[in-house]
Amino acid sequence: MDLTDKNAHLVGELGLYTVIDTEDGHTTLYSKYFDENCHSLKGAYEETCYNYVQGCNVLETAQIHNNCHILEVGFGIGLGYKCTTDSFCQELSEDELIKLKITFISLEIDPFLIEYAKMNTTIFSEYFPTFHELKEYQMPVRHLKAKKDNKELIILIGDARKSLPLFSKKLNYKFDAIYQDPFSPKKNPILWTKQWFELLKNYSHAETKLSTYSSSSSVRKTLVHSGWIISNHKGFKSKKTCTHATLEGEICSNLLKGLQSEKIKVLIDN
Ligand SMILES: C[S@@+](CC[C@H](N)C(=O)[O-])C[C@H]1O[C@@H](n2cnc3c(N)ncnc32)[C@H](O)[C@@H]1O
Repeated sequence: MDLTDKNAHLVGELGLYTVIDTEDGHTTLYSKYFDENCHSLKGAYEETCYNYVQGCNVLETAQIHNNCHILEVGFGIGLGYKCTTDSFCQELSEDELIKLKITFISLEIDPFLIEYAKMNTTIFSEYFPTFHELKEYQMPVRHLKAKKDNKELIILIGDARKSLPLFSKKLNYKFDAIYQDPFSPKKNPILWTKQWFELLKNYSHAETKLSTYSSSSSVRKTLVHSGWIISNHKGFKSKKTCTHATLEGEICSNLLKGLQSEKIKVLIDN
């Protein structure tokens, strides 16, 4: 299938995309609609492993519980799923891999990107469902699903603020990990609001780990006002800091003090 126009741009439902090389030998996409790259130019694959697989500590969850429910906000080119399955395959024994029950739910507004991932992102493991095995369903919301034994990949299509609540009636568990990976708060504000972070709480338990590349003070203040306990961490490569959040624990008082200024706004969905 040819996904490009006559100028070799990729033609998505949400506008044009351009393929960009990143420093780790992987590529990312630049979205014209959001005017932003999906990943850091310092390394798309390495950034995703660092921010999400390591940031949410999913290997530990998988090893301790033999079970891991992951929510990814923004499927993009599918690197969140690829990094997660690659890491499981590298770090878990065959026995652990067979026993592991995993549900990976990703939220994506542009269905074109899943077609792109099918052609460009390979899942090498025999244990996990691949993008090519995805089949489309319409109820209770448009989604794609692929299942292999006790491992399931689901991509909800549409605006995450609607698709997640609609699909959630089917969920009989809470997520252990949330990969908060939309475009930046400036370019993609609707997925960084108090309403959004409060919604995510409904699908989280006391030990859920939310991780994001963002270290914006407004995002941090919004997380705090939504009831999340934030912590400060080293960012990927040259990025100084990033943010983790859970629902239990205590926020470092210095971190909280730094957010007190009225100039730092809580982000609200209008
Ligand atoms: C930074 S990219 C995600 C990269 C991805 N995690 C990966 O590793 O390849 C952000 C994604 O969020 C999607 N997105 C933006 N707004 C959305 C919304 N309201 N609902 C669902 N997805 C959205 C974009 O289309 C884009 O694919």
